[in-house]
Amino acid sequence: MLKVAVLISGGGSNLEALLEAAADPAFPARIVCVGSDTEAPGLAHAEAAGVPAFIIRPGDYDSREEWGQVLAAAIQEHGVGTGPEPGLVVSAGLMRILPPGFVREFSPHLINTHPALLPLYPGAHAVRDALAAGAAVTGVTVHVIDEGVDTGPTLRQATVEVRPGETEAELHERIKRLERPLLVQTVREIALGELDLAAAEAP
Ligand code: GAR
Repeated sequence: MLKVAVLISGGGSNLEALLEAAADPAFPARIVCVGSDTEAPGLAHAEAAGVPAFIIRPGDYDSREEWGQVLAAAIQEHGVGTGPEPGLVVSAGLMRILPPGFVREFSPHLINTHPALLPLYPGAHAVRDALAAGAAVTGVTVHVIDEGVDTGPTLRQATVEVRPGETEAELHERIKRLERPLLVQTVREIALGELDLAAAEAP
């Protein structure tokens, strides 16, 4: 059974989808903890599911590296990234760049979901950037996190056609409707050994 830690910063709808999937005993992964960098509303999903959650704020530490070390230790306390099985860390709406020490600790067992077709529109405003560029098509990418910003090997993508005149919020909501099942399916495939993270290649 794959042990999964999920990291969030916001509403946590992707976390909620993972928790719902993992509530099925037939699902091959368990969410063992949820971490956040802030008082994220999505932490309520962890509480409702009885999954331990913690907040580790970057501002409480002298450096991003130190924050990353404390975050890594909190995750490892729940059995992810220690022992014979590597487990999996899922960044699902964590709006922070994980520091290199953290990435080295967990990668390639460290994935992110991003609301664009990487390598297009990396960064914190992917949906806004796609609209500003006049993109006709955008989507979502689930990828392995490496030490760059949204540069790691792509695992799965899904595309969404941009509708004329739609707002950033409308487009993001339509992306998220595809993103949730794509992330759940990706975690399932990793848990079943159908997706080999170590063999995933950079885009
Ligand atoms: C998701 O669309 C995720 O891809 C995005 O934040 C949203 C979180 O939604 N992440 C990024 O933009 C990271 N650069 P959620 O809190 O409802 O899961």
